[in-house]
Amino acid sequence: MIDVQSLTMRYGPAIALEDVSFQANPGEVLGLLGPNGAGKTTAMRILTTYLYPSSGTAKVNGFDILEDPMEVRKHIGYLPETIPLYGDMRVDEYLMFVGKARELEGSQLTERLTWVQNTCQLKPVWKHLLCELSKGYGQRVGLAQALIHDPKVLILDEPTSGLDPIQIIAIRSLVKSLAKEKTIVFSTHILQEVEALADRIVIINEGKLVAQGTKQELAEKVQVPGKTARDLSLEEIFIQLLAPSQGASV
Ligand SMILES: Nc1ncnc2c1ncn2[C@@H]1O[C@H](COP(=O)(O)OP(=O)(O)O)[C@@H](O)[C@H]1O
Ligand SMILES: [Mg+2]
Repeated sequence: MIDVQSLTMRYGPAIALEDVSFQANPGEVLGLLGPNGAGKTTAMRILTTYLYPSSGTAKVNGFDILEDPMEVRKHIGYLPETIPLYGDMRVDEYLMFVGKARELEGSQLTERLTWVQNTCQLKPVWKHLLCELSKGYGQRVGLAQALIHDPKVLILDEPTSGLDPIQIIAIRSLVKSLAKEKTIVFSTHILQEVEALADRIVIINEGKLVAQGTKQELAEKVQVPGKTARDLSLEEIFIQLLAPSQGASV
């Protein structure tokens, strides 16, 4: 469970997030959708306690990001926009290193390593150096490090960015398979991505919350002449919702 309460983030005079609130529930995949610069990464870095908000707060599985940041970190698996992979480490060494940093040891660590190896389909590259990996495998290792401690909450920043269509399908189905038992928030600027993955959508633009809901709920907020809410594509909904601030030129 994630409960974001009135988050505001200023970088000097610039406002990256302004009074943004949203919730994500267990078993739910929440898509954080917005153009580049909307504030998605900033929101995720605050949720994962890497950044302190200027005001507002959030709770992750009941723990407050300001009061209990260490507890929050324990409950979260985070795939950042740029994964800090140490090029001269092997995949197995790196994941063992992350597992130990997550306080796993002995048979528990071995079990989790086997689980991420299977779940993220890393067998073919298990002994490879990280610097040798393709973008697709790099992303899978990124997911594996986010999953090693079996967190209840997954935060994925643009998980399919830069991947080819086959890799995108593989990552999507992996995320879907994890969804039942976790709360998952992912960000993207790609409409098809939210359409394919998200149960619920939070749209942000220029740091502000534009709308949130299921696709159907969002469709009911807009009007396109000659079309019913049911007929609207996500693209049409998105353009309509952003129209007041962007003149529909997304
Ligand atoms: N460390 C930073 N210092 C100053 N401005 C930043 C910093 N990080 C992000 N920003 C600005 O905050 C806004 C939101 O950025 P970001 O959260 O990265 O958006 P998104 O992930 O949606 O593309 C952008 O205008 C960006 O330039
Ligand atoms: Mg970003």
